[in-house]
Formats: sequence, structure tokens, C-alpha cells
Amino acid sequence: MQTILVTGGLGYIGSHTVVQLITAGYTPIIVDNLSNSSIKVLDRIEQITQVKPVFYKHDIQDTSAIEEVLKRHKIDGVIHFAASKAVGESVQMPLDYYQNNVSGSIGLLQQLKLHNIKTIVFSSSATVYGDPATTPITESFPLKPTNPYGWTKFMIEQVLRDLHISDNQFKIGILRYFNPIGAHSSGLIGEDPQGVPNNLMPYIAQVAVGKREYLSIFGNDYPTHDGTGIRDYIHVVDLAIGHIKALEYLFDVNSQNLLTVNLGTGNGYSVLDVIKAFEKASGKKINYKFMPRRSGDVATCYADTKLAEKLLGWKAKFGIDEMCRDTWLWQSKNPNGYTGVIPV
Ligand code: NAD
Ligand code: WQD
Repeated sequence: MQTILVTGGLGYIGSHTVVQLITAGYTPIIVDNLSNSSIKVLDRIEQITQVKPVFYKHDIQDTSAIEEVLKRHKIDGVIHFAASKAVGESVQMPLDYYQNNVSGSIGLLQQLKLHNIKTIVFSSSATVYGDPATTPITESFPLKPTNPYGWTKFMIEQVLRDLHISDNQFKIGILRYFNPIGAHSSGLIGEDPQGVPNNLMPYIAQVAVGKREYLSIFGNDYPTHDGTGIRDYIHVVDLAIGHIKALEYLFDVNSQNLLTVNLGTGNGYSVLDVIKAFEKASGKKINYKFMPRRSGDVATCYADTKLAEKLLGWKAKFGIDEMCRDTWLWQSKNPNGYTGVIPV
């Protein structure tokens, strides 16, 4: 049974991945500073899996605390989720983003190197592609982020590539996620944004549950079938399983030691398509108003998924209907996210 350090393991994608790790027979050790998550997630993971993972409330920037964790546990691999992730906030507070995401990651990597822990999976993002010239986007497309958050992902990718060049015993998986949505089918864990949601799906879910009056659709004049932006939404459970496949790949002695793959479905849905699917799944009417485009948004973004399929034998199973169904189950069971009572 291998032990996996999961930084940011109580967050949205981290918590779903911890569940999948436990299900696949791994022992996760979670480090999270709770800056964007709730301690209640730990109980929910236990409710789902009957296993309460070891948890440390540490900041990855606290290198001595990380060192203690690495001394206490024999870690076989790391999945590094911990980061700040709001694009708009990163424009307002670039130094905080470079500090947390870039400096935090480098400090963590220094500790991993010192302790000879060389299998690392990193959460990158489709945002590193910026505004792609065409779609679908393959991994060899040029990287040209358009905001500080995206640059932090670009920089850590480069740090990891250089680390691999310096020592090819490092086994590194760079996973570029497209747009994760959905929730675990139990309705016990899901996305719980603080304040006003920045992203489409949690906003729609809050309109459906009556917390917000209407959705603002940012732009209806894009060159798409209905004028609204197209994205590659991926069910968070599929994404979580992609991490297990990446770990299996890296642990395989016959694999390449540097893996860079897109994790998406390869399908694009417009904002209006998502609204329609959500209305069908929830039986609720989603009121919306068209607003001007949001600065920095691209018209169309979806993945070429062939490489992940070829190297990892991984392909997303869930479609937009399941993504909306599970988001709605989570939102309707937990209208106030983790601040409410534990559902039965
Ligand atoms: P999240 O905010 O829900 O999870 C991140 C977790 O990391 C949170 O629990 C937070 O408390 C923790 N954290 C942040 N800084 C930390 C620090 N310095 N030390 C310890 N813990 C810290 O976000 P998420 O959506 O689960 O994203 C996980 C990762 O995936 C992030 O790296 C994010 O950039 C990346 N990503 C997310 C998306 C997305 O749309 N959700 C898309 C692409 C990539
Ligand atoms: C999707 C579509 C919006 C909200 C972001 C990050 C990216 C990655 C995933 C981390 C777009 C439209 C949205 C709303 C709307 N995260 N929209 N009204 O911008 O594709 O990606 O999350 O790595 O880096 O940039 O996702 O969910 O914000 O937007 O009309 O209230 O929904 O314009 O077309 P995005 P999103």
C-alpha cells in the first residue's frame, strides 16, 4: 500500500482525489492550510470511504512543518494541488499568487528533493494555453498565459521540467485540467466557493437553489453556435481518477519519467448548453441576463484528449448530464456548502 502526500487535499479537486486514492488502495496524507476549504471535508471523506485520512493543517510555505511530515511518514508520491486559483484575484494580487503558488511549490519541491521523494503529480491548467489559435488543444500548443494565475502554473511547469532535466529519477506528471465541475455521487463533497462564485457551474447551482437571482452571461457575440463561450467541462470524479492513472503511470518502471497531459473530455459546451442541461437535471429554471464579455475570456477552449488516452489508458466517462445531476445533488443537499449540517 503506497502512501501519497496530497497538498490541498481538502479542496474541491483534492477531496475527490483523496476518495479515489482510498478506493484504489492508497494511503493519503493530507496537508492543507484551510485557506479555501473546510475541516468538515475530512468527516465527509470518512462518511464516503469509512477511512479518516491523516490530516495536517499546515501551509506548504512552512518548510519546517512540511519537513516534519516527510520525516514522520514514508511518502511514495505526491499530488500537489495546494494553490490559490482565482484568475481575477490574481490580477489584483499578483505578489500573493506568485508567493503562494510559485514560492510555495518551490519550497515544497526542495523538501521533497531533500527527502528523496521523486514521484510528483502537479495540478496545472488549460489556462497555460491562453487564447489558442485553434481547437482542440493538444499538449504541444504554445504556452502563453494571460494572467498571473496562469503564469504561476506556467512557471511551476518549467521548474518541474528543469528539475527532471537535473535528475531524471524525478518522475513528474503535469496534468492540465480543463473545466472541472460536478461532485461525488453521494452529494457529500463538492465545490464550495467562498463569496460570489467566479465560475459558471457554482453560479448556476446557486441560482437554482435560490441563493442568487440570475446568472450574468458574459458575452453573447462570440463566434460560437449560440454566441456564448464554449468550454470543456469535465466531471471532477473523472478528473480524480485521472490522477490515480497518472500515479500508476509514473510508478511503472517502464514509463517515461516526464508526463504532460490534458485532462478534459474533448467536448465543448456553450454557456447556454450548460444552462439547458442544468435545467433538465434539476427541474429548476435558471434565469439569466446577457452582459458584456468578461475581460480575458476566450471564445472556445476544449482539449485534444488522445495523449491521455494513449499514455494513461484514461478517458472521461461522465457527460454533461451527469455533471449537472451531481452538481445539483451536492448543491441541493448542501445549500450553504460545508457551513450547513451533515446530510443523511
Ligand atoms: P481549491 O481551492 O478547492 O483547493 C486548493 C486547496 O489548497 C484548498 O483546500 C486550500 O485551502 C489549499 N491551499 C491553498 N494554498 C495552500 C498553502 N499555501 N498551503 C496549504 N494548502 C493550501 O481548488 P481546486 O479547484 O480544488 O484546485 C486544486 C488545484 O487544481 C489548484 O492547484 C488549482 O490551481 C488547480 N486547477 C483548478 C481548476 C479548477 O477550475 N478548479 C482548473 C485547473 C487547475
Ligand atoms: C466558463 C464560461 C464564461 C461565469 C476558469 C479559469 C481556468 C480554470 C477553470 C483554474 C465562460 C462564462 C462564467 C459567469 C458566465 N481554473 N461565465 N457567467 O473562465 O473557462 O476557466 O476556471 O485553473 O484557469 O480561467 O471558467 O467557469 O469562469 O467560465 O457567463 O458568471 O462561462 O464567460 O465562457 P473559465 P468559468
